[in-house]
Amino acid sequence: MERFVIQGGGRLVGEVPISGAKNAAVAILTATVLAEKPCIIENVPNIRDVSIILKILTDIGAVVQTIDRSTVMIDTKHVQKAEVPYEMARLYRASYYFLGVLLGRFGRASVAMPGGCDLGVRPIDLHIKAFEALGAKVSLEQGGMVDVKADNLIGTHIYMDGYSVGATINAILAAVKANGLTVIENAGKEPHIVDLANFLNSMGADIRGAGTDVIKIRGVSHLGGATYSIIPDQIETGTFMVAAAATRGNVLIKNVIPKHLECITAKLRKIGAVVEEFDDSIKVVRTGGLLKDNIKTMPHPGFPTDMQAQITVLLALAQGTSIITESIFDNRFRYVEHLRHMGAHIQVDGNIAIVEGGHPLKGAPVIATDLRAGAALIIAGLCAQGTTYIEDIYHIERGYEDMESKLCGLGADIKKIYTPDPLGMSQAL
Ligand code: EPU
Repeated sequence: MERFVIQGGGRLVGEVPISGAKNAAVAILTATVLAEKPCIIENVPNIRDVSIILKILTDIGAVVQTIDRSTVMIDTKHVQKAEVPYEMARLYRASYYFLGVLLGRFGRASVAMPGGCDLGVRPIDLHIKAFEALGAKVSLEQGGMVDVKADNLIGTHIYMDGYSVGATINAILAAVKANGLTVIENAGKEPHIVDLANFLNSMGADIRGAGTDVIKIRGVSHLGGATYSIIPDQIETGTFMVAAAATRGNVLIKNVIPKHLECITAKLRKIGAVVEEFDDSIKVVRTGGLLKDNIKTMPHPGFPTDMQAQITVLLALAQGTSIITESIFDNRFRYVEHLRHMGAHIQVDGNIAIVEGGHPLKGAPVIATDLRAGAALIIAGLCAQGTTYIEDIYHIERGYEDMESKLCGLGADIKKIYTPDPLGMSQAL
């Protein structure tokens, strides 16, 4: 069992580079299944979710070659298997993108229901409706397998009757080689949806409107290969921005797209940090006090749910009462209990958290209940008096590359230590 041990109280100072975006990488790497020639993908984050996808790709017959630390060549020409078993699909959320790509390539796919962070109920009904609209038959088989089959995928109108990033991506993946025009209405607008569309277009797809709520896909019969660089991670950047503000730091965050961060920048300025934007970097400095604020998570370009836990830590340090409303997931406040152990005064009522700020945080043993919860606990540990121990850090490693060495580079006192599991139980269970 590995855990983080953090001695709090220091300021983060210096420069930190941001890795490629997790949620773009998981879509783009999977989308190489649709290519007929090798693809070279650059700026790939070195995280656990990516390692699992590369393993699945190899398992279904792709040739995967690591060129350097962040570049990978993927040749899917010899892929024949259209199945992803439970042991692999359960390890991360975006395994459901294999349904879209295998359906698009072979007209059939069998993929186990996905795993990922436990943020409440996470159905895939919108994905299924999109596949069905394109002409596929979908059945839920024993053992949690989702089977999709189509003799022919036919372009159509898909109205998403709920806002879903994953269903939008899956609809694009299945429609990109369908016959005729597909129009997705009420589509997701997140930067990684745009990144996926740009990648597919660079292979010869015809996708327009990504980044707006109407995406038009004219099906093509062939997709070649491409060399493509993944966008920087919006949420990793936001996490370092909040960490800098929380620790009274002075941090230059490099290799970012400031436009993707506007909602986080605006909130941090309101709360009391100075944020300077440059072409591909952003600087966050805090010298004064922190002010309360209210936050409501929203689809892009609103405040991202994936930054909700981190900003809550910052508001727990601010004077006054802040209200956080989670409007995307129905159970994304599980970390609050752990912040309370550290001395934060936060009450949760349904999808609202009331944060009475200004109480100092103290180091404590806590558990990363999911990926972003883990990031929030790291920020809390950096600001706390004394030592914080964070268990279950495999959640954090699913989505953040080299978190502890990046933080150490900014002067943080954080170490990853191994402690034997007294019960001999696997952490992944
Ligand atoms: N939903 C449905 N039916 C569906 C699909 C979604 O009801 O068929 C509901 C979900 O239960 C949720 C809401 O719609 O309440 C939004 O879910 P969405 O489909 O947009 O989320 P996702 O695709 O499962 C992606 C990211 C998440 C991020 C959300 C929201 C990936 C791999 N995951 O999840 O990232 O929080 O969009 O922006 O792209 C993270 O990185 O920590 C993370 C959880």
